[in-house]
Order: sequence, then C-alpha cells, then structure tokens
Amino acid sequence: MYSEKVIELFRNPRNMGEIENRDGVGTVGNPICGDLMTIYIKVDGDRLKDVKFKTFGCAAAIATSSMITELAKGKTIEEALQITRDDVAEELDGLPPIKMHCSNLAADGLHAAIEDYKRKKE
Ligand code: FES
Repeated sequence: MYSEKVIELFRNPRNMGEIENRDGVGTVGNPICGDLMTIYIKVDGDRLKDVKFKTFGCAAAIATSSMITELAKGKTIEEALQITRDDVAEELDGLPPIKMHCSNLAADGLHAAIEDYKRKKE
C-alpha cells in the first residue's frame, strides 16, 4: 500500500521535534481523521535555515511531514510557498488515493508557519 520511501520516513523521520527559537510556527489539523501537524521554521535572511515538525497522525502524515521539512530546508520563503501538496506526494513516490489528504496537511502546515513568520515580521 505504501511506497518504500513512505515506510522509510515513517520508521526514521527526519527533522522531528521543535525549534526552540523559531521564527514561525503553523499548526494544521484534519477534522475527519483528527490528525494534527505542527511545522516550525527558522529563517536566516530570506531562507529557511531550519524546518522541523511534530505530528500526531498516521504513517502517511508522519512521512509527509518529514518530507516537507527536507523539501523546504534551504529554500527561500517564496520558493517554499510554491511547494504544493502534489510535490510532497510525488517525492514520496505516491500515496494511496485514500491517503492523499495526509499530504495536504504537510503543505498547509508549512504555509501556515510562513504566514506566521510574515505576520510577526510586519
Ligand atoms: Fe489523517 Fe493521514 S489519516 S493525516
């Protein structure tokens, strides 16, 4: 059902945890399954220097969280905002159709963290 990449990231998630002195944080949830995801970002100049996550959710939610931290790290704010739900699923070699909504959380969580950063900066 899951690709090898999903299983690998579920077993060994990258960048799991909080960033203490973060510049932005975004929490999103799926009311249907009840899963919750929080993304933390640290910004240096206009680049995401660090990205971490905490997720209470299914295997796909954990794998997509881990994947989005890897996709976003080192990118500029504008580049990170262009990362879509489909990019996350594609990088994981696909998700079962019933699990596609899990990848929404990851992209939405990252975008929410960036919005939080922008709000604080203003
Ligand atoms: Fe809820 Fe995967 S089942 S995010």
